[in-house]
Amino acid sequence: MRCPHLPDGFDFTDPDLLHDRVPHLEFASMRETAPVWWRAQPADISGFGDEGCWSVTRHADVKYVSTHPELFSSQTNTAVIRFNETISRDQIDVQKLIMLNMDPPEHTRVRQIVQRGFTPRAIRSPESALRTRARSIVETARNAISHGMHAFLTHPEQWELYERERPRTTAEEIVRWATPVVSFQRTVTEDTEPGGQRIRKGERVGLFWSSADNAPEVFDSPEAFDISRDPNPHLGFGGGGPHFCLGRSPAVLEIDLIFNAIADVLPGLRLPGDPRRLRSAWINGIKQLQVSAAPESWHRPPSG
Ligand code: HEM
Repeated sequence: MRCPHLPDGFDFTDPDLLHDRVPHLEFASMRETAPVWWRAQPADISGFGDEGCWSVTRHADVKYVSTHPELFSSQTNTAVIRFNETISRDQIDVQKLIMLNMDPPEHTRVRQIVQRGFTPRAIRSPESALRTRARSIVETARNAISHGMHAFLTHPEQWELYERERPRTTAEEIVRWATPVVSFQRTVTEDTEPGGQRIRKGERVGLFWSSADNAPEVFDSPEAFDISRDPNPHLGFGGGGPHFCLGRSPAVLEIDLIFNAIADVLPGLRLPGDPRRLRSAWINGIKQLQVSAAPESWHRPPSG
């Protein structure tokens, strides 16, 4: 394997790393030099008591692993790539009761039951209640919208475009650009070779959705926040396999409603400071984002 250009000890699951930033430059280097890369880790840091895990960073390889649950299990070690070092094996195993951490055929059976609550009709029916709630959130809690809001405020031309045209493609681009779930993992059920790299049964494989969502072979100018991006085959909701996010439609609807409400009632938005980021091994989260609005906007009645 060619040598990846990473500093010694660099670990994509280090919570201090995501506390600081998403490692886009390092992902780019991995996609080019070692797209399926073994990262050795001390046995006691992730909760799994093993010697490390593989990092899969290319869009096509992430999709391949996601869509082959017979080779890559979500159940053996759960989908969570790193727990804290004090977790016991019993505490990990109890998490196999949730759907995210099941394998077919049990997963298929449970998902068939749960997805009845996620039909287009079931999702649209509370839409007007959500619309009202979205408006009332924007009227009361100005800093609730984290990544999308931050992206708009650091790309004012995109906010102007949004205010003017409200492109239907916006919510998906917010999810691609933010990729709030940086990674999940699978565990190999038999020796296999994703991306041409030999991986042995029992080894863990990290799927880096964040890296896939910034792959230049798939996205034009992936570093650009472009709310008109279409098509947008991002993997922010997963790689299309059996665990593909069941909440995609309500999430997209909610993002749509929130930003519509913000654009309706809050002109003159500004960003007074940097966001405070979440410390996590696998979530790209914003803990606090302060946004200020022009005072007169508080008296503007919502349109429509
Ligand atoms: C922007 C918001 C969201 C993002 C980025 C997101 C992302 C994800 C990702 C990456 C997965 C794993 C996919 C895989 O392993 O292939 C997932 C699974 C899942 N998501 Fe979401 N999600 C979001 C919102 C929601 C919402 C609002 C709900 C519920 C209302 C939800 C329910 C689920 C469920 C139940 C699963 C597990 C599905 C399974 O294992 O079969 N998600 N999500």
